[in-house]
Amino acid sequence: MSATLAAPKFAPPAIRQTKMLIGGEWVSAADGRTFATYNPATEEKIAEVPEGSARDVDRAVQAARKALEQGPWGKMDARDRGRLLNKLADLVEQNLDELAALETLDNGKPIRDSRAADLPLVIDCFRYYAGWADKICGQTIPIRGNYFCYTRREPVGVAGQIIPWNFPLLMVAWKWGPALAAGCTIVMKPAEQTPLSCLRMAELAMEAGIPAGVINIVTGDGPNCGAAIVAHPGVDKIAFTGEHRTAQLIMANAAQTLKRLTFELGGKSPNVIFADSDLDAAVQGTEFGLFFNQGQCCCAGSRVFVERKVHAEFVDKLVSRAKTRKLGNPFDPETTQGPQVDQAQFEKILKYIELGKQAGAVCVTGGNRLPGKGFFIEPTVFDHVTDDMPIATDEIFGPVLSVLPFDSVDEVIGRANNTFYGLAAAVWTRDVAKAHRFAASVRAGTVWINCYDVFDAAAPFGGFKMSGMGRELGEQALANYTEYKTVTMSLT
Ligand code: NAI
Ligand code: MG
Repeated sequence: MSATLAAPKFAPPAIRQTKMLIGGEWVSAADGRTFATYNPATEEKIAEVPEGSARDVDRAVQAARKALEQGPWGKMDARDRGRLLNKLADLVEQNLDELAALETLDNGKPIRDSRAADLPLVIDCFRYYAGWADKICGQTIPIRGNYFCYTRREPVGVAGQIIPWNFPLLMVAWKWGPALAAGCTIVMKPAEQTPLSCLRMAELAMEAGIPAGVINIVTGDGPNCGAAIVAHPGVDKIAFTGEHRTAQLIMANAAQTLKRLTFELGGKSPNVIFADSDLDAAVQGTEFGLFFNQGQCCCAGSRVFVERKVHAEFVDKLVSRAKTRKLGNPFDPETTQGPQVDQAQFEKILKYIELGKQAGAVCVTGGNRLPGKGFFIEPTVFDHVTDDMPIATDEIFGPVLSVLPFDSVDEVIGRANNTFYGLAAAVWTRDVAKAHRFAASVRAGTVWINCYDVFDAAAPFGGFKMSGMGRELGEQALANYTEYKTVTMSLT
């Protein structure tokens, strides 16, 4: 028998790190408390991690301040910070299998996605910001009078970074990359649902030679641990990704210390399909734009506006495509849809499916959970959705897609913008002018034309309106982590 290449087998990895990282030490919570993180595909406990509280946050902030003000980091040449970021990227690449498996175990996302999407984007992001470290420049400014005036761009200081569970490692990279390039130190809190990959990444950061105290990780919940980071006077800036309601709490909390804030929040992104588009490509992009990552994407194309002339044909094709999605064990390389991240999200999504049915939308495929263990929900498409239904106004953050028919360009632009969100939008058409007119008129931070979910570390990402403040990625994210200092010297 001739040798055939066996399909690679993927399995949950050994859990190597379950302690918090404070000042270069792996520690338990000061009061010894822990909480469990679960596998959403089996509902089984994976591990206990420390439940950090204000005391732990305080230790982490002290460590971060010390590393900033007294440690080697503050004096390090910018190019050497870049070198360390590149080293970290290399280590992520060398440990890709383990990190991807850890991500799949804790979050439930299919291994094919964590390997082919999350981890490559993480590596790219670190390398991109490694390149920026020695290119963050001030200016010389020709002010009136006999003076030499210039600006310096200094690190904002200790950055508090609070991230969600939908792309745990990618959120680490988006936050650490620009912060470290700019010379900041970090106190990060991963989401309580998915702490493990962040802890392992912090281990790799130590291995890369990033000095003790530069990156501190405190695991814990939002109201105690997260809020303590936001309230701490030793933290200069908060970068947060998550729900807009949480951002409102953070903003109020941060008002006491007037911290710099950047937010990357949710959305109800319009995905507009014109009759003159390549319909098969639009169907494919629409499926990907909503169902990718179990629908747990801030930029998910959850309001699908379809021009009435092609509405029936589009829905037929979309339903056929949705039915080809393969739900199941996320470690199976054939699986394209895993479980939702936890019970709370699972129940929220099922509630919205009920609300959709009650409101009179037509559920044309899916609409149910899978029987047995695990938080699996069928890919669900609602047709004949109207703009006022809860499934059309609220961020569901699950595999639930709403189709809304439309007739004209002006109408669809108005309806696309009729939301307090403004994160992303997409348009499918062969008419170049129509595409750019839509791109200019839609109030969203990112517009995709004839594609969806195209991300790159070099392209800024963030929200208009209540979808965010500031931009991540690209050169723009460096502004989040730097202060301008103006220096003026008399030349007389
Ligand atoms: P969340 O916004 O409550 O949690 C995100 C992070 O913020 C977590 O690390 C959490 O511990 C922390 N946090 C929570 N309350 C905090 C507080 N008072 N102070 C400081 N930090 C705090 O989001 P959650 O509860 O996980 O999900 C709720 C909904 O939010 C989802 O159903 C989805 O609609 C949306 N969401 C949006 C995300 C995005 O990427 N834009 C990511 C995650 C959730
Ligand atoms: Mg919450």
